Amino acid sequence: MLENLKSLGGCDNRGKVYCGENEIVREIYNDYLNSTKNIFDLYKKYDLKNSGIVKTELCENKEGTLLKHQKHLISYSHEWTPSMFKDSILFHLDLFINLDSYGLTLKDALPNNIVFNFSKPVFVDFLSILPIKDLENEDWLLQGYTSNKDLRYCVFETMFIPYFLIPFIILSRKNYSYFKNILFYKACNSGQNAPNWHDVGRSSGKSGLKNFIDLFLLKRSINKIKKNKFVDYCVEFKSLVEKTDLNVGSSGYSSYYEEKAENFNLSDFNNWQNKQKNVYKVLEEFKPETVLDLGANTGWFSILSEKMGAKVIATDIEIACLESIYSKAKKDNLNILPLNLSFEDLTKKLNGLSFDEKTDIGIYDDKNPIFLPATQRFKSDLVLCLALIHHLVLGMGKEIEEVIKTMAALTNKTLVLEFVGFDDEKIRQEPTFFKNLNKFSEQTYNLDLVLQIGKKYFNEVEILPSHPESRKLLILKK
Ligand SMILES: C[S@@+](CC[C@H](N)C(=O)[O-])C[C@H]1O[C@@H](n2cnc3c(N)ncnc32)[C@H](O)[C@@H]1O
Repeated sequence: MLENLKSLGGCDNRGKVYCGENEIVREIYNDYLNSTKNIFDLYKKYDLKNSGIVKTELCENKEGTLLKHQKHLISYSHEWTPSMFKDSILFHLDLFINLDSYGLTLKDALPNNIVFNFSKPVFVDFLSILPIKDLENEDWLLQGYTSNKDLRYCVFETMFIPYFLIPFIILSRKNYSYFKNILFYKACNSGQNAPNWHDVGRSSGKSGLKNFIDLFLLKRSINKIKKNKFVDYCVEFKSLVEKTDLNVGSSGYSSYYEEKAENFNLSDFNNWQNKQKNVYKVLEEFKPETVLDLGANTGWFSILSEKMGAKVIATDIEIACLESIYSKAKKDNLNILPLNLSFEDLTKKLNGLSFDEKTDIGIYDDKNPIFLPATQRFKSDLVLCLALIHHLVLGMGKEIEEVIKTMAALTNKTLVLEFVGFDDEKIRQEPTFFKNLNKFSEQTYNLDLVLQIGKKYFNEVEILPSHPESRKLLILKK
């Protein structure tokens, strides 16, 4: 069975993870069978799924002992909104606090061990749970650690501070690109040094002195709150994080629907334009279980799709828009996962180190993914690409073929692509907004060309009216 499943890579010395059709399967290496069974018994006994640990079953069959975990969408910390990252920190601190009451802890503390079940964080690194006293057997963790304090501080110093706290401070300074880049390029086992305090300095932009004082005070408070009781430390750490204001403000795109007078009531069809009516009709007809809404803005079409029964991934590049989606999803418990992904990010991947079992030396392995591309993680029944193609082609200068090929890789069945023509009022009114406009003409960017390329990747195409009339909805089916 395992040989037919796709390996999810990783650097766990206790087992290997595979992606099954409906579950994540974890093979356990012989040396860790007994300890894994013990942890699983404690997981059951203390109902640890209620603390946010992924729902897990232990299966013993002729292939040996396997763990089967509930399958969630795989999203990474560099794709989360600031509030999602903050929630993941609070969740992780709560997990340390809850596990402490059962004499348990975690040998790792990394954002990559958390995924979001829409708006709820879930801890997925089952094999990093262990009795607190067993931390002393983790040689690799203790290298160079001389303090005789609670060893959980060592986990914090090696992982929690660099991979959670440092990016969080950078976030609080609103340097979103630096935040995204260090979580991606300096990921654990990428072969790069972990994020560190110099990154905070480098990310601080113009307000140098103020940031320096902030940083000094923050470092001092983190050191000051180190206590004999690790749980008290976590509680105080939580309150520092809770107090930190991550307000992202608004962007030019935050009131897009209000400005276009398209912020329609979702249940009042009468005022809808052709665009809303026809997307609704397509969702009614295809009844997709999963929808990927690219360039979702504040999520009008994501919420429509969710209300019609789909599980939705909503992507955009505007943090303020994504935060608005996350707060709605959290408040109303919507099956919508907002993610900060640009078009380029959809195909971006990163490989990392593999460790030699005997020497424990890590070498770069181009078959060991740290980050899988979105095209492998987010393939959906229906992809919405509404009012985005002109940003990608005329704005970013992408080839029409590259756009359609990427969309085709992301859909199992249907792509709803809204074509925005050269004569569109938005383009005529704000030509400077589209930085690559002068590289294209009506001959190189037009509906016929999009249809022609679309037919290379899809079997059928239907054209429906949108709004305003210069826009058309192309329904492309595989
Ligand atoms: C014109 S709005 C369309 C919103 C929504 N799809 C609709 O049709 O109602 C375009 C959206 O795409 C986002 N966007 C622009 N360039 C993008 C890119 N390269 N990758 C992802 N989103 C992008 C913008 O932030 C904005 O929210």
